[in-house]
Amino acid sequence: MLNIVVLVSGGGTNLEALFHAQEKGAFPDGRISLVISSSPNAYALERARKRGVKTKVISRKEYGESFDSAILDALNEAKADLVVLAGFLSILTETVTKPYAYKIINIHPALIPSFCGMGCYGLHVHEAALRYGVKVTGATVHFVNEVADGGAIILQKAVEVKNGDTPELLQRRVMEEAEWELLPRAVALFCEGKIKLIDGRAQVEE
Ligand code: GRF
Repeated sequence: MLNIVVLVSGGGTNLEALFHAQEKGAFPDGRISLVISSSPNAYALERARKRGVKTKVISRKEYGESFDSAILDALNEAKADLVVLAGFLSILTETVTKPYAYKIINIHPALIPSFCGMGCYGLHVHEAALRYGVKVTGATVHFVNEVADGGAIILQKAVEVKNGDTPELLQRRVMEEAEWELLPRAVALFCEGKIKLIDGRAQVEE
């Protein structure tokens, strides 16, 4: 049984999608065993507690410089086989990404390499897409390294931008039509050992 640890910071709709997928048997060889939040007020914590899943709060405010080593210690203690960043708003340094290379995945609400990198998260991503006037956006699941949104891409799905879209409307559509489908699918593929690395690029075996 693979131990899955989910890192969150906010509402936890992606965490909810993972719980639903787990309950439907989408990844029988994996189990969400711990949810770590960078914020004590994250509603994502409530979603985990309702299901009796262990939670931890590790905030940069409380841990300061030792934030990354506190995350690393928690992952090691949990014997994490897979770490999922689901709306997690902190950038992890090599302290964590090196020992967990190719074991951390993240969901980004755009088609990387568009609208990503430092400072481009949450609603800012959709504001940038609307400002640019793209007609298609979407979501990306990728491996996490020390570069913000820089790791190998695992899955992507396109979502149409509609006339009159606000950042909020677009965010919701990208979540519903792409994020909440892609992240559970990537977890299932990881648990089934179907994500191969070839020349630094991820290739999925369907
Ligand atoms: C959303 O902007 C989502 O696109 C991104 O993180 C934010 C919050 O997600 N992945 P969640 O509802 O906390 O999962």
